[in-house]
Amino acid sequence: MSLLPGTVGAIVPAAGRGERFRGAMPKSFVPLRGRPLVQYALEAVHHVDEVVAVVVVGPAHALDAMRELVASARLDKVTAVVAGGADRQASVARGLEALPASADLVLVHDAARPCVTPGLVRAVAAAAATAGAATAAVPIEETIKRGEDGWVTSTLDRAQLYRIQTPQAFHRTVLERAHREAARSGFHGTDDAVLVERLGHPVRLVAGEAGNLKVTVPEDLAVAEALLGRGDGQAQPVRVGLGFDAHRFAGGRRLVLGGVEIPWPRGLEGWSDADVVVHAVMDALLGAAGLGDIGQHFPPGDPAYAGADSLHLLGRVRDLLAARGWRAAHVDVVIMAEAPRLAPYVPAMQASLAGVLRLDGAAVNLKATTLEGMGALGREEGIAAQAVATLAPLPAARRSE
Ligand code: CTP
Ligand code: MG
Repeated sequence: MSLLPGTVGAIVPAAGRGERFRGAMPKSFVPLRGRPLVQYALEAVHHVDEVVAVVVVGPAHALDAMRELVASARLDKVTAVVAGGADRQASVARGLEALPASADLVLVHDAARPCVTPGLVRAVAAAAATAGAATAAVPIEETIKRGEDGWVTSTLDRAQLYRIQTPQAFHRTVLERAHREAARSGFHGTDDAVLVERLGHPVRLVAGEAGNLKVTVPEDLAVAEALLGRGDGQAQPVRVGLGFDAHRFAGGRRLVLGGVEIPWPRGLEGWSDADVVVHAVMDALLGAAGLGDIGQHFPPGDPAYAGADSLHLLGRVRDLLAARGWRAAHVDVVIMAEAPRLAPYVPAMQASLAGVLRLDGAAVNLKATTLEGMGALGREEGIAAQAVATLAPLPAARRSE
């Protein structure tokens, strides 16, 4: 199921000289767990269904080797392998020229970041589809100061600072305009977002992954190796969680289930939008991660959550899990409702949950049942939902526990 409008073209800049890496070969070809570094980034973008074309920007003297790699790894979405320019910006600009006209959203992901997950690639693309520009970003955890001549000159407000990663994604017209303007004015930046910022166009921050490190110096390779190999050769830990929620019907309220508004004369009573489906899913996820329940994280009565969009809270739960090294692998939900008839809304609910959890639609299952007139639910006094969720380790994340 496509969660994105339009088609995505990906550019993988891999033409750097790797000066800080000080290797005998271009950094993109350095072996990592037996495969060239660039192959990981290429496979991560390849695995995203919505990506229809991939352009690899390689070192001018190693284009044949790059083409061989693409062929032997069967990366059949690669439409062009082109030579890079003097800096990363010039390399991306060349990639952009080679991108098929059909791609209206452009995703850029560096060869130097092998531990990215397809889920993050998809999330950044989805954010850019609506915002026009988006980048993966991780909040700064350390205190950052300015210094000069060996003395501290000031301390920056960490709350406003992010480490910027790739993937980044943009509407094609926006990125093309940004590169043209930078070339015209002779501006050089170290990422693509800065070129878009210079146009005055907003750039959305998307929660990146702590494990999405950039291989810059030789020591980084060992860390990437460890992150990629986590769990190899041993049983993968899996967690299962259970969630339940029920709300009464009330007049004058919207009926929102699984993030989808359903036309019905009554909605559900509750502090937030009373989306029992999303609440059951959140409780299942939190339970699986050993993180208590939604009441602890988003207390009812807290003005911050009055009328809250539960899908937004689900995104917060996803990020909480990611910070602890977990991702949702699968969710199954049963909705107990005598009325309305929910079958027509199931695909939309499935898509909205899958979108927030960064899952394929097939990994989110929803079904509705009536109570055959039995009990309070059978008398149409309200709606209840039950969910189970399975968590898997986030391949490239660092656990903060
Ligand atoms: N890159 C590129 N063309 C360039 C410079 C960089 O395509 N002229 C790519 C790199 O291959 C890398 C990404 O941009 O995937 C980020 O660059 P960086 O990590 O700095 O790699 P290098 O430029 O190769 O390393 P160094 O700066 O140490 O030389
Ligand atoms: Mg560089």
